[in-house]
Amino acid sequence: MEITLLLSSLELELQKQVSRLDQPHTKPFHEMITYHMGWTGDGAGPEATGKRIRPLMVLLCASASGGDWKKALPAAAAVELVHNFSLVHDDIQDNSPKRRGRDTVWTKWGAPMAINVGDALFVLSNQAIIDLKENHQAETVVKAAEILHNTCLELTRGQFLDMSYEGRHDLKVEDYWPMIAGKTAALLSACCHLGALLGGADEASQDTYRSFGQYLGFAFQVQDDILGIWGDEAVTGKSAASDLVEGKNSMPVLAGLSANGKFAERWRRGSIIQEEVEEIASLLAKEGGYQSAHEASKQMTDLALLNLREAQPQGEAGDALFDLAGKLLKREQ
Ligand code: IPE
Ligand code: IPE
Ligand code: MG
Ligand code: MG
Repeated sequence: MEITLLLSSLELELQKQVSRLDQPHTKPFHEMITYHMGWTGDGAGPEATGKRIRPLMVLLCASASGGDWKKALPAAAAVELVHNFSLVHDDIQDNSPKRRGRDTVWTKWGAPMAINVGDALFVLSNQAIIDLKENHQAETVVKAAEILHNTCLELTRGQFLDMSYEGRHDLKVEDYWPMIAGKTAALLSACCHLGALLGGADEASQDTYRSFGQYLGFAFQVQDDILGIWGDEAVTGKSAASDLVEGKNSMPVLAGLSANGKFAERWRRGSIIQEEVEEIASLLAKEGGYQSAHEASKQMTDLALLNLREAQPQGEAGDALFDLAGKLLKREQ
């Protein structure tokens, strides 16, 4: 399976979808979008596009369940557009100045413009999914649109929990899973579900692919939380201090709080400032926050792999799915 061919075909499909907004009189608006997608502006290129993991999952799951991945390209573009819409809005919500090693859209053009860019990406994703009609029956297209739209609702519920948890001191690890189920796992799960649907898998198999994506999403977000505290900014392209400064109740923080040590005492005293981030991060590691989060991520990856084995993915795409699932746990970006 030529992953590079999948990725280059995806990029062309994304450009086609985004070109709907390439209109006279609003060229700078189109440029804001192509900037965020990583194609134009300072620092444009492969590093600036992000990893494109979600659309890759759609294409691989379609192929591994016996279908033609090319016919799933509009769905792959749709999930990546949803992801990017959520990132543009998330960076405003989280007050994050950097994404993929570059200034965020709101840093460059202000929050009002960035909200509009996010809205446009969201609508483009809805248009992309409808393009499945070129190669699939109407019933399948409606089902795919239903999966995508339900996922977007889940995403907003997850973001609601994430933001409403900020600065709270009474949360436990049990409160964490519903939050990341919405903000992250729902979309990864939808990617695998969509791929299986478009690849022609039966309903039971679609369910297994969906569970695979769900657990992978849990593992993925826990790893993102680890990188959000101990990651290398030069590799992640995001600030390693912002989760602690923003008071995010991430997995390592909740695990650290349950240890009830020095970290918990400091966290409960109030906001953490930039200057103390390094010290607090090492305190949290010492009191088990890193280790517990790492173990949780490993457990979720194992559950993902269990479901993937049950789905019996076929051919080179199947091998690529196992490979990808294993690598996500060790990712540094
Ligand atoms: C970042 O996702 C947001 C999360 C859900 C953790 P990715 O790590 O997939 O971001 P890009 O697209 O590769 O930049
Ligand atoms: C990830 O949110 C989920 C969404 C963007 C919807 P985070 O806020 O945890 O992710 P990063 O670290 O900014 O990418
Ligand atoms: Mg966020
Ligand atoms: Mg964020």
